[in-house]
Amino acid sequence: MASMMLNLGANPTTTSLPKTFVGAKVNPLIKVQSFGRVSMSIAVKASRFEGVTMAPADPILGVSEAFKADTDPMKLNLGVGAYRTEELQPKVLDVVKKAESLMLERGENKEYLPIEGLAAFNKATAELLLGADNPILQQGRVATIQGLSGTGSLRLAGAFIERYFPGAKVLISSPTWGNHKNIFNDSRVPWSEYRYYDPKTVGLDFDGMIADIKAAPEGSFVLLHGCAHNPTGIDPTPEQWEKIADVIEEKNHIPFFDVAYQGFASGSLDQDASSVRLFAARGMEVFVAQSYSKNLGLYAERIGAINVICSSPDVATRVKSQLKRIARPMYSNPPVHGARIVANVVGDPTLFNEWKVEMEAMAGRIKNVRQKLYDSLSVKDKTGKDWSFILKQIGMFSFTGLNKEQSDNMTDKWHIFMTKDGRISLAGLSLAKCEYLADAILDSFYHVS
Ligand SMILES: Cc1ncc(COP(=O)(O)O)c(C=O)c1O
Repeated sequence: MASMMLNLGANPTTTSLPKTFVGAKVNPLIKVQSFGRVSMSIAVKASRFEGVTMAPADPILGVSEAFKADTDPMKLNLGVGAYRTEELQPKVLDVVKKAESLMLERGENKEYLPIEGLAAFNKATAELLLGADNPILQQGRVATIQGLSGTGSLRLAGAFIERYFPGAKVLISSPTWGNHKNIFNDSRVPWSEYRYYDPKTVGLDFDGMIADIKAAPEGSFVLLHGCAHNPTGIDPTPEQWEKIADVIEEKNHIPFFDVAYQGFASGSLDQDASSVRLFAARGMEVFVAQSYSKNLGLYAERIGAINVICSSPDVATRVKSQLKRIARPMYSNPPVHGARIVANVVGDPTLFNEWKVEMEAMAGRIKNVRQKLYDSLSVKDKTGKDWSFILKQIGMFSFTGLNKEQSDNMTDKWHIFMTKDGRISLAGLSLAKCEYLADAILDSFYHVS
């Protein structure tokens, strides 16, 4: 509440009380401000939140805010990892619309879900991850609970690790998706980085990765991107995955997969889950967070899951009970809408097949722009530089190798919005804009150091 009063001692900048008030009983929560030479001042009730500082903009979501504010007609948002059509419009999948019509027809209610989420969703999501005929599922060795998409599922796992493995470290790749560090910081789980990206080759630093996983304290958690590594788009080969599993087993570490792009990387749900299945088939205990933001385009529905593959059904039952215990005071129980969409799509053979076709088309469009970007760079760049690393990367993103200053030039001069680590989301690019993007990359690469 602000109140107005006359300030007779016309000091233009003072924020102290006017003379007439000196000696009067002063409420410490009332501030008095004078404005210029005008003999008016406003008493503003001081906030109890004066000590709250301004948080920095999120490095990924903040890019979208800046994009909205730009009025240039050539502007391009390659910051956030969200799929766009060739016309650069958001897409709602046809199977999602069909699943939603089914839900309306059935007149489903809005009662609370149990803490662990929708049973049909939990069954579908574990089957999608491991393969419906995987004996691990028949043996009841997987504790699955519905989470608030990938982020919320990772956060539940973070809380579980903090509670049951106090002091254990999570090893995360360098670089990684921007939110991983926040999640483990807020979970009070210590983390450190393992080498992943080699700037010299714009490829995987496999030897560095193996050495760092070996050097970590026994029993650490190793966070791995199941497919389509974010931000680099660089995945290990099947042979490299085997070696990673060897070292993790040797060191008694616990693998923790983040699967945010199943089906979106290669276009095949099974192929994109092969890394997780390889570890599970070795009999290892594994954490897996899943997200349906990208592969079903359910970004705002916040639907995903945390799965813990355990050594016995008894352990799985106990682990699940504790995950529920963590979820209950956090958000009580998860939302139903996205869970029903996933359960309806995966549970209906016709919709499931239609989904696969739509997913392949999305993955295919991204592959096409990746190819065209590479072609444009190769034709325009007269120095003979090899840009083929772009073709070797997979999934939504390409790591261009541009540094912060060069990324700034992309935005300031070319109105291309991207994260400052040089990552671009190819899902936000159209064939029509590939040449423009190539011009911007070449200008930034060769003219900004
Ligand atoms: C590697 C990775 N993990 C998890 C997520 C979580 O996304 P969401 O919380 O929308 O499911 C993302 C999203 O970009 C991601 O790239």
